[in-house]
This record gives sequence, C-alpha cells and structure tokens, in this order.
Amino acid sequence: MKFAFVACLALVSCNSEESAETPPTPEKEKTPSHPWDLEPSDSALVAGKQVYLDECAGCHNEGEEGAPALTKSKEWAKRLEQGLPVLFDHAINGFDGMDGEMPARGGTPSLTDDQVKNAVRFMVEASK
Ligand code: HEC
Repeated sequence: MKFAFVACLALVSCNSEESAETPPTPEKEKTPSHPWDLEPSDSALVAGKQVYLDECAGCHNEGEEGAPALTKSKEWAKRLEQGLPVLFDHAINGFDGMDGEMPARGGTPSLTDDQVKNAVRFMVEASK
C-alpha cells in the first residue's frame, strides 16, 4: 500500500516535470495521427485516398455499422489473408459478412471498378 502510494507520487512528479520542460515537438506533426492521413506517393494510392475520403471514410474511419476501422491493423491483416482479389470483389459487389453489410461500391454505384480497387489498396496500406 505504502509502496504503491510512493510510486504514484513519483510518477505524477515525473509527468508534470516532463510536460513543463518539453514544449510540443514539431516532429510529432510529421507522423500521421490517423491512418487515413497517410500521404502515399504511388498515384493509384493517391487516387484511392480521395475515393476513400469521399465515399468510404464515413463507415471505415472509426468502424461504423460493423465496418473494419482503418485503425485496426490486425483486423485488416486478417482480411487481407483472403487475398486482395477477394477484397476487391467484396468492395465492388458488396459483402454480407459476420460483422455487418458492406454495400456494393460503398453505396456509390457511379464509382468505377478501378476507383473502388484503388480505395481498397489505400485502405490496406493505411491500415498497416
Ligand atoms: C455504409 C457503411 C460502409 C461504407 C460506406 C463502406 N463500407 Fe466497406 N464495409 C462495411 C462493413 C459493415 C464491412 C464489414 C462486413 C463484414 O465483414 O461483416 C465492410 C468491409 C469492407 C471490406 C473488407 C471485405 C472483406 O472481405 O473482409 C473492404 C475491402 C471494404 N469494406 C471496402 C470499402 C470501400 C472501398 C468503400 C468505399 C468505396 C467502403 N468499403 C465503404 C461498411 C461500409
């Protein structure tokens, strides 16, 4: 009990010293704070990011309605084990899975196959 109390005090004082002495580091801003902030250099991924942000982010950023969130790397790694072509197929044609319903083309029928595929590529990259 006594030990826990002392350790606690030590922790608190450490933390407050740190925050008093270290100003916010500009370096931190370079690391994307969200997976979808990723700035890909590949042009397919750049195009995919735009589609993602416009049409897919609503469900996939935080994982609405059972959608796998981009923040969940393990979840995406597991889904990727099916192979990229299966993910493409599920994104283009829709997929009624265990967690919810993925609407065909995210519910935007005007998207081309390539746009959907690029969005999936971006999602796979960003979730890593
Ligand atoms: C209305 C919500 C919603 C929108 C919008 C949406 N998704 Fe999904 N998506 C889901 C849900 C729910 C699942 C999970 C289905 C399951 O596994 O049960 C999912 C799963 C997926 C998967 C994984 C499929 C698999 O086999 O594991 C991919 C890839 C995907 N979505 C891509 C997209 C793309 C690309 C877009 C935008 C064009 C998009 N989604 C937009 C809800 C959405």
